[in-house]
Amino acid sequence: MASGSMIPCVTLNTGHAMPVLGFGTGSSRTPEDLPATILHAVRLGYRHLDTASLYGTEAAVGAAVAAAVSSGAVASRADLFVTSKLWIADAHPGRVVPALRESLGRLGLDYLDLFLVHWPVARDDDDEEKKSRLVPFDMEGVWRGMEECHRLGLAKAIGVSNFSAAKMAKLIDLAQVPPAVNQVEMNVGWRQEKLREVCAVNGVVVTAFSPLGAHGSDWGSNAVMESDVLRDVAATRGKTIAQVALRWLHEQGVGFVARSFNKERMKQNMDIFDWELNEDDKENIMQIPQRRACQGEYFVSPNGPYKSLQEFWDGEI
Ligand SMILES: NC(=O)c1ccc[n+]([C@@H]2O[C@H](COP(=O)([O-])OP(=O)(O)OC[C@H]3O[C@@H](n4cnc5c(N)ncnc54)[C@H](OP(=O)(O)O)[C@@H]3O)[C@@H](O)[C@H]2O)c1
Repeated sequence: MASGSMIPCVTLNTGHAMPVLGFGTGSSRTPEDLPATILHAVRLGYRHLDTASLYGTEAAVGAAVAAAVSSGAVASRADLFVTSKLWIADAHPGRVVPALRESLGRLGLDYLDLFLVHWPVARDDDDEEKKSRLVPFDMEGVWRGMEECHRLGLAKAIGVSNFSAAKMAKLIDLAQVPPAVNQVEMNVGWRQEKLREVCAVNGVVVTAFSPLGAHGSDWGSNAVMESDVLRDVAATRGKTIAQVALRWLHEQGVGFVARSFNKERMKQNMDIFDWELNEDDKENIMQIPQRRACQGEYFVSPNGPYKSLQEFWDGEI
């Protein structure tokens, strides 16, 4: 990892280092010159870039990586940690390795640092609207494909996303290569205590997505950015609400992927590693009501493999 980076790393169960703060690129509104925006983030010190086949940002991430190396912002590709994700249309045993190769083609890279199963869901066609075409998710078959990606050296680490504690336990039981990461919704308004316990016992790093509650997105919540508790803590600490929210995650020992395409805010979001919350702050934050915002209701239907949100999240909702 690049020396001089201000963002600390966590060591994955594969032995390699993942910067705890990732730069999110999943958004319904991306700037026109996304590669330049991502390159700017790298210049500021971001070293972990989070993308997915779904987001349509793999090519921009790849272009930014190439520009970061050619401009000397980093010494080599190895100084960057790139995560991408397997979309549900490819969540079939025979599709995992080809899908990763396609992602790598869009990125212009020969390996990913981390490849995640995006959701525990499989779809048998490419049409976003057809809920009826969801088919049962073959966890073991898909994971064998992920293990093959790892064995081939195409993904240095493999993991999952949006897996409940119950699904994690099942995966850990069947895995020959254990998952390194579970990337899930986590923030002060959804603390994921049960899941974090299962992951900790099994050496799986939890990475929080939507650390600011996906504020401003269609499904996002105001629970973080409009929290009175965080507003008070921020005022006493002389920090912003976003910084308090991200610092809290850091103190929980998890990784987190934040997204800002605004130069000032992307800088602000990195500026959380040289101060601490005090006991009162932490106690107050524990009083924030809990609610899962990213529920995945589009994966639930009366005729589909998941018939209710309770079933989809194994009661963890
Ligand atoms: N695995 C999954 O299923 C999954 C799901 C969702 C997200 N993700 C990943 O996680 C990343 C982050 O999550 P997210 O995009 O949902 O939401 P988020 O990071 O919680 O929130 C993003 C929103 O907060 C604003 N923001 C960022 N920094 C701010 C600051 N310092 N002050 C005020 N507002 C600020 C951004 O606006 P500006 O750009 O204007 O600053 C944007 O509207 C995604 O980009 C994606 O890479 C993964």
